[in-house]
Amino acid sequence: MSTHLLDLPDYREQAPEVAARFARIRARPVILQVQDLEKTFGDNEARHVVFDHVSLDIHRREFITVIGPSGCGKSTLARIVAGLDEATSGEILLDGHAVSGPGPDRGMVFQGYTLFPWLTVKRNVMFGLEMQNKSRSTAESEARSWIDMVGLAKFENSYPHELSGGMKQRVAIARALANEPRILLMDEPFGALDAMTRCKMQKYLLEIWKKVDVTILFITHDLDEAIFLSDRILVLGTNPGGVREVIENPVPRPRSVQQLLSP
Ligand SMILES: Nc1ncnc2c1ncn2[C@@H]1O[C@H](COP(=O)(O)OP(=O)(O)OP(=O)(O)O)[C@@H](O)[C@H]1O
Ligand SMILES: [Mg+2]
Repeated sequence: MSTHLLDLPDYREQAPEVAARFARIRARPVILQVQDLEKTFGDNEARHVVFDHVSLDIHRREFITVIGPSGCGKSTLARIVAGLDEATSGEILLDGHAVSGPGPDRGMVFQGYTLFPWLTVKRNVMFGLEMQNKSRSTAESEARSWIDMVGLAKFENSYPHELSGGMKQRVAIARALANEPRILLMDEPFGALDAMTRCKMQKYLLEIWKKVDVTILFITHDLDEAIFLSDRILVLGTNPGGVREVIENPVPRPRSVQQLLSP
């Protein structure tokens, strides 16, 4: 019996407009280079290769989502790019310079709420700006404009415990963007939110990304989320760990929730 019941084109076949869109993205400068990255934990019998031979060039203002089963190393990849963890071999280059430790050029937003609970929304966003030795008044006015961008102007004097989960993550995004990072690393930032809030946050994030010159590496294990947000999707696997595929997402922008319901 033939397995080709439907004579559909291969999903990798691109329409000319999709090919043209990705040619335009590839023509932009490369911001982040992941070069033959390997990460191993433990040695001898306990040696566990999380991933091997991971290479990828990410272009300016590209939105990359990373998807894969639990334990395939998505968070590990984000931590290595952030400089919080070291690669076993291979290299990460940001604007052509090797990454060796955390820096303000990479912003991070995690799943868990990481705001300082004793600081107001405004002071949370000002924190990184004051660390950069900006004056209090400069930090305050810059923080205000980022808080405004995420739609929380009315809450600048609230404390994190007075905010909903979605609002907390909007503050976390404002705080990360306030440092004007080259790349924003997001590790399942909406994973703890209910489905409705999550959907709203995805739309919010795309709106913010439209206004800000930032490249995004977004980790998720939700395929719909990966498709809704991304230009390209990096698919990681386990046993052996590594890149299974890099998918150029053909869904046109601007994205709408209706697209999720269409074939
Ligand atoms: N500090 C560590 N020591 C030893 N093994 C570790 C350490 N951190 C992570 N691992 C292992 O590395 C692998 C990848 O972990 P990682 O957290 O990156 O997975 P993930 O893809 O983010 O999973 P999830 O979808 O559950 O968040 C796992 O098998 C994990 O057990
Ligand atoms: Mg993880």
